[in-house]
Amino acid sequence: MTAKSILTAAELDGIAALISHYPTARAACIDSLKLVQEKRRYIADDVLAEIAHLLGMSVAELDEVATFYNLIYRQPVGETVILLCDSVTCWMMGRNQVAADISKRLAIKDGETTADGKYTMLPIVCLGHCDHAPAMLMGKTLVGNVDAAQLDRLLPEARA
Ligand code: FES
Repeated sequence: MTAKSILTAAELDGIAALISHYPTARAACIDSLKLVQEKRRYIADDVLAEIAHLLGMSVAELDEVATFYNLIYRQPVGETVILLCDSVTCWMMGRNQVAADISKRLAIKDGETTADGKYTMLPIVCLGHCDHAPAMLMGKTLVGNVDAAQLDRLLPEARA
């Protein structure tokens, strides 16, 4: 780690290990972003710039990847991100009601983070769980057939 590095030694080692698995450094870009995001929760501009340098990419190139891939966050998010599907099947099966129920419990709308920094709610395209719509990803847990009872269980501190 250089004196100027923003990334930790563990992050630098992790990225080096990822790069070693690919024929080109830039091929490790998504894995590298995910690795760094794991602890930091989001990829700040200066962090992105250092990762880009390590991968031999321009900042703009890596930012294009980061902003295209919807599980990489470029803005601060809460401890738990609630990704609520807004694709067609979930829309038909009550996604809007689920969004309203979450909003009521947590006092946030799509794209917002609770005042205590615990939760962020974001829309996401189809999660591939359409047969259990409406669906959401809560942290790393895929949840189907989301309804008020489920939300009471998942967000006990914020019962409606
Ligand atoms: S449309 Fe929501 S999981 Fe597929």
